[in-house]
Amino acid sequence: MKTLIIYESIHHGNTKKVVDIIGKVLKAKIIKAENVNIGTLREYDLIGFGSGIYYGKFHKNINKLIDKMPILLNKKVFIFSTSGIGKKKFNNSIVEKLKEHGLENVGNFSCKGHNTYGPFKIIGGIAKNRPNEKDLEDAKNFAENLLKIAK
Ligand SMILES: Cc1cc2nc3c(=O)[nH]c(=O)nc-3n(C[C@H](O)[C@H](O)[C@H](O)COP(=O)(O)O)c2cc1C
Repeated sequence: MKTLIIYESIHHGNTKKVVDIIGKVLKAKIIKAENVNIGTLREYDLIGFGSGIYYGKFHKNINKLIDKMPILLNKKVFIFSTSGIGKKKFNNSIVEKLKEHGLENVGNFSCKGHNTYGPFKIIGGIAKNRPNEKDLEDAKNFAENLLKIAK
C-alpha cells in the first residue's frame, strides 16, 4: 500500500513527532503541504493529512491544497492533528472537503500538543511536554490499525 503523509507543523514541531511515528509504521513518504505536487497524488493508495490546529483549523496550506486537488476516486485518507486541547473534533474541518473530492476517510487521530501561543506563553504554555510517550504510543497503534483496515 503506497502511502503519502502531507503535513504542516509550524509551532513547536508537535505534529511532526506524530507524523514521524505514523510514517514509520506505514513506510510512508512524508511531505509538507506547500511542497506537494498535485499531479503525483494519484500514485498513492492511502494519503494522510496531519496538522497543528491554528484558530480551530488545519494549517492554511493544507486547506489550500485540498481545494486545488482533483477528484481522486477510490483513494483512502486518514486525518490527524495536535492541538492545545487535543480534541478530534478539529479533524472534522477537513473531513467534508475530502469527501467532496471522492476520498474515503478511514481514520482519525488527535492528541495534545504544547501550546505557548498568545497569553498561554505567560504561564509557560498549556499541554506541556505533549505529545508525550503515551501519545506517540497511541499514534503508533493508530497507524498499525490503519495497516489492517486500509488494505
Ligand atoms: C496561531 C496559533 C493558533 C492556535 N489555535 C489553537 C486552537 O484554536 N485550539 C487549540 O486547541 N490549540 C490551538 N493552538 C495550539 C496548537 O494547535 C498546538 O500547539 C499544536 O500542537 C501545534 O502543532 P505544531 O507544533 O505541529 O505546529 C494554536 C497555536 C498557534 C500557534
